[in-house]
Amino acid sequence: MNFSAMVARESDGGIVLGREEVGDDFLGTGDVTIKIHYSSANYKDLLAITPRGGVVRNYPIVPGIDLTGEVTASESEDFTVGDQVIAHGYDLGVSRNGGFAEYTRVPAEWVVKLDGLDTRDAATIGTAGFTAAMSVQALLDHGLTPDDGAVLVTGATGGVGTVAIDILSGLGFEVIASTGKTDAGDLLAELGANEVIGRLPLDPEAKPRPLNKANWAGAVDSVGGKSLAFVLSSIGYGGAVAASGLTGGSDLPATVLPFILRGVSLLGIDSVFLPIEKRRALWAALGKELRPQHLSSLESFAPISEVGNVLQSIKEGTHSGRTVIGVAGEF
Ligand SMILES: NC(=O)c1ccc[n+]([C@@H]2O[C@H](COP(=O)([O-])OP(=O)(O)OC[C@H]3O[C@@H](n4cnc5c(N)ncnc54)[C@H](OP(=O)(O)O)[C@@H]3O)[C@@H](O)[C@H]2O)c1
Repeated sequence: MNFSAMVARESDGGIVLGREEVGDDFLGTGDVTIKIHYSSANYKDLLAITPRGGVVRNYPIVPGIDLTGEVTASESEDFTVGDQVIAHGYDLGVSRNGGFAEYTRVPAEWVVKLDGLDTRDAATIGTAGFTAAMSVQALLDHGLTPDDGAVLVTGATGGVGTVAIDILSGLGFEVIASTGKTDAGDLLAELGANEVIGRLPLDPEAKPRPLNKANWAGAVDSVGGKSLAFVLSSIGYGGAVAASGLTGGSDLPATVLPFILRGVSLLGIDSVFLPIEKRRALWAALGKELRPQHLSSLESFAPISEVGNVLQSIKEGTHSGRTVIGVAGEF
């Protein structure tokens, strides 16, 4: 079978992403073949086409850590032709070909049957939104309720941030959005943020303190670095921070005081290797009680031919929300 794909190849010390007609050798091994409807643009896809980005070892590769679509062939009794599905994470788009292609073949134990979401909604949520849902679920499992106080979301205009705000506000939490974008107030309020503040710490020059005023009951953090250290020092007694990202750096210049004096918990979030049963259960919740209420407000659409420009906007810091990448019929 021949099909179209966006292939990333090393060239003169850089990485070039371009459309190619490819054959079966690009399909991958597995028992479920999927005609891809949509992928999406994630921070990790930018790293996949960035020299020394740290996520891809061997090129050429088809990037795209998310894919949604329709099963066209299945050797697994769990899936039949026509099933609407999503696959994301594991090796997709980093050590085997991912979602920026018309077709893929993957192991059945990586595939989630959609329930209550169509393939476009699921791509809008994608890895970033799923990570937001994991973060919110971790806070709920910790015991956090809307009565405990406000929840902070950092990197608020990002993929993880926007979906986290949408889910938290839908659950009745007071949400404080921390963003570096001065023009994002209207979008964040529309998603349900009760207050918008700048990036943290608000005064980057101030000497960091091991404990600050207890401002928030919990936080969803996808920024890491000094921001996460500040957030930890500002969480109230018994609160928790769900940490998933490093857009602000991978260092954590913090002290143990929030943990030992306030009983604060740092909850690590990894969407990539979350076991499939938990993954399927959380996607089912995303179609029901955790469903984000404002997907159309946080979604943008771009055809696959434009994916390079979308990833560039993530690099330049001008991207907001979630961009769905149209694949079927869009090459
Ligand atoms: N653990 C996992 O399984 C998992 C899954 C998905 C993503 N992630 C990670 O989570 C992070 C966010 O992913 P995403 O898809 O949401 O990315 P994204 O859409 O690019 O959003 C990242 C946001 O971070 C903020 N930001 C960017 N540069 C920053 C800086 N220098 N300092 C502070 N904030 C900065 C920006 O928000 P504002 O402009 O609003 O401040 C930006 O919109 C990435 O590090 C990604 O690798 C992890």
